[in-house]
Amino acid sequence: MKSLLNVTKLTKTYGNIKACNNITFELYPGQVLGIVGESGSGKSTLLNSIGNNLLIDSGEVIYVNQKNQVLNIKQIPESQHRKLTKTEWGFVRQNPRDGLRMNVTAGANIAERLLDVGVRHYGNIRQEAAYWLEQVEIDTNRMDDFPHTFSGGMQQRLQLARVLVTKPRLIFMDEPTGGLDVSVQARLLDLLRSLVRNLNLSVILVTHDLGVVRLLAHRLLVMKNGSIVESGLTDRVLDDPQHFYTQQLVSATLVP
Ligand SMILES: Nc1ncnc2c1ncn2[C@@H]1O[C@H](COP(=O)(O)OP(=O)(O)OP(=O)(O)O)[C@@H](O)[C@H]1O
Ligand SMILES: [Mg+2]
Repeated sequence: MKSLLNVTKLTKTYGNIKACNNITFELYPGQVLGIVGESGSGKSTLLNSIGNNLLIDSGEVIYVNQKNQVLNIKQIPESQHRKLTKTEWGFVRQNPRDGLRMNVTAGANIAERLLDVGVRHYGNIRQEAAYWLEQVEIDTNRMDDFPHTFSGGMQQRLQLARVLVTKPRLIFMDEPTGGLDVSVQARLLDLLRSLVRNLNLSVILVTHDLGVVRLLAHRLLVMKNGSIVESGLTDRVLDDPQHFYTQQLVSATLVP
């Protein structure tokens, strides 16, 4: 099978902080890759170095698009990059305010993505928006409300709806279920799991929550101080961690 994304020796520094140090991994179609590690280990920087326009110090990011073209992401023109982020890629930001347009309604936030991929029929757009609001458990009566009137958890769910509506091939998720009630989180995880399976989505999923990666991720990267200290199949890494840091991480989240 051909990989969708190839990251090779990616390094990103801030002054003398190595936020990402020599990161190499591959992502295959239909695969969910979890990234775990303590706060400040470089998870968000890695996501942004791959998917956003963050300048990197060195390394390569290769993406194979829908037309099977091999794109060198750090070298393509800005316009082509922007197009990818509006069509084939989706982002769920750690802070929902970065992933939403706060000055347009909830419905318009979803509609905007549909317009970006070329859907034009107004009735269909409204219907799709309502469908996805329901999927993320936001009352469709709130469709014409602005996101700043939503709670943090609702904003995060709206962000998910906005991303999922166009069924992107590759989704970057930074703590998608942070700040959600356990019951809502469980239902959203179920939804994500079935979407990944049915639509063959690929996901890079950053989270503090080992329960979330256990449920969703096929493979795991464990990061510490900007480096990958361990990687492998999720069950293997969590059930039989090899690196001392992973052992600590796993035992810290076990209920005594
Ligand atoms: N814009 C920035 N300017 C300077 N340093 C930064 C910047 N963004 C991140 N860093 C530093 O890079 C390192 C990695 O940060 P990053 O935000 O990627 O961590 P993280 O793993 O996402 O943490 P968290 O779990 O808290 O979100 C940290 O030392 C951080 O202080
Ligand atoms: Mg982060």
